[in-house]
Amino acid sequence: MDHPLQRIGNSLSANPKLGKFSRRGFMLATATLASCKAATALPGGAVKTSPNIAYRTPSIGGSVPRNDAGNFPSNFSKDAGITFSRVLVSGNYIAITFDDGPHPQNTPRLLDILAQRNIKATFYVIGRSVDLHPGILRRTVAEGHEIGNHSHTHRLLSKLGDTEVRQEMQRCQDAIGRAAGVRPRTMRPPYGGLLQRQREMLHAEFGYPTILWSVDPLDWQRPGPSVVTSRILTGTTAGGIVLAHDLHSQTVDAMPATLDGLLKRGFKFVTVSQLIAMKVETPEAQASNVPASS
Ligand code: NI
Repeated sequence: MDHPLQRIGNSLSANPKLGKFSRRGFMLATATLASCKAATALPGGAVKTSPNIAYRTPSIGGSVPRNDAGNFPSNFSKDAGITFSRVLVSGNYIAITFDDGPHPQNTPRLLDILAQRNIKATFYVIGRSVDLHPGILRRTVAEGHEIGNHSHTHRLLSKLGDTEVRQEMQRCQDAIGRAAGVRPRTMRPPYGGLLQRQREMLHAEFGYPTILWSVDPLDWQRPGPSVVTSRILTGTTAGGIVLAHDLHSQTVDAMPATLDGLLKRGFKFVTVSQLIAMKVETPEAQASNVPASS
């Protein structure tokens, strides 16, 4: 999921040479600004400071909270449902999802942050990007994360005919298979746009439930890492599915504080398929359906 405006960013970063030079120039300009103007005294004694737009979350020394979710099964029943924006579960389980990768810098940095905390996430990847960065997808799978289908070219599927929708799903699924030897269990439509009839078609033909979300920090608008963190901490409840994008460096910057905050609130992270597999029908059924802790 993301906003059409994000296409502008996508097209910029699609040119690696341009992206590299512009980023480098931006960083140099920022450093110059900071060294020259960071503490310019203004009349009246006020100190003018430059915005720290090159902010990066500092690396963590010492221990961080660890996710202690068990080794839950990922195989859910086809009868579990066709669309999920959250799942009724017994316990404080949640799933965090990252869309629109793999990204050559941000995804590996995110994988480090997740590994430090023993958190398994679900990555809704774009097939075209998987073809560009297959090694990053292999690492993501090797570290225990789940891969979901986010289409091959990130088009608005609700505007496409059935044949094109099938091709978008199949091409992404094939790219994932070639890169990492796994098959996705779920899909998320770009921009959240998929008609009910299309959802039923993909469920019947690919076995994919359509995965939406219960928490949207609007991180693609780049509101700053602290805003992303506070929106996720405020919005997350048990059984929730958190939407985020590893395409954006600010989102990754926000993750240490976000993940630690969720862990400190007692949430346990599982993948989307694990969350669906622990679905209970009614709150009364919870007592008998507590996932085995073996
Ligand atoms: Ni997307």
